[in-house]
Amino acid sequence: MSRDLHEAAQTAMGKCHAPYSHFPVGAAIRADDGQIYSGANIEVIAYPEGWCAETTAISHMVMGGGRKIREIAVIAEKLDACTPCGGCRQRIAEFADPDTLIHLCDHDGVVKTITMTDLLPYAFDAEVLK
Ligand code: THU
Repeated sequence: MSRDLHEAAQTAMGKCHAPYSHFPVGAAIRADDGQIYSGANIEVIAYPEGWCAETTAISHMVMGGGRKIREIAVIAEKLDACTPCGGCRQRIAEFADPDTLIHLCDHDGVVKTITMTDLLPYAFDAEVLK
């Protein structure tokens, strides 16, 4: 993974709104249009209404014109190799392929890279609805 994606995730993490968990997270997507789209977690006092960094990044991608996730980096200030939550796994899968790379990062760079299939095995396959 190149440095720019890690830097984008780190910069995004700095913009988190996490006054309740104090657990800043950042995510950065390299999309099919060549652009990087990033996001941070945004919490709400009614706790279930907050959302994850990956979700913010995906919404930026879609609204910016990107349609596919080529690779995604995730970083958390207080955890090396923070893995996306269950809901975000399904959201990432919506815009990814089975071999799309998920980079789990710390402050220095990538700790571990896994594929979409590693992250969400036995995923619900939208093909059945077509
Ligand atoms: N969080 C993320 O943003 N992404 C993850 O992959 C895991 C968890 C956020 C949600 C919440 O704001 C905080 O981390 C603690 O759960």
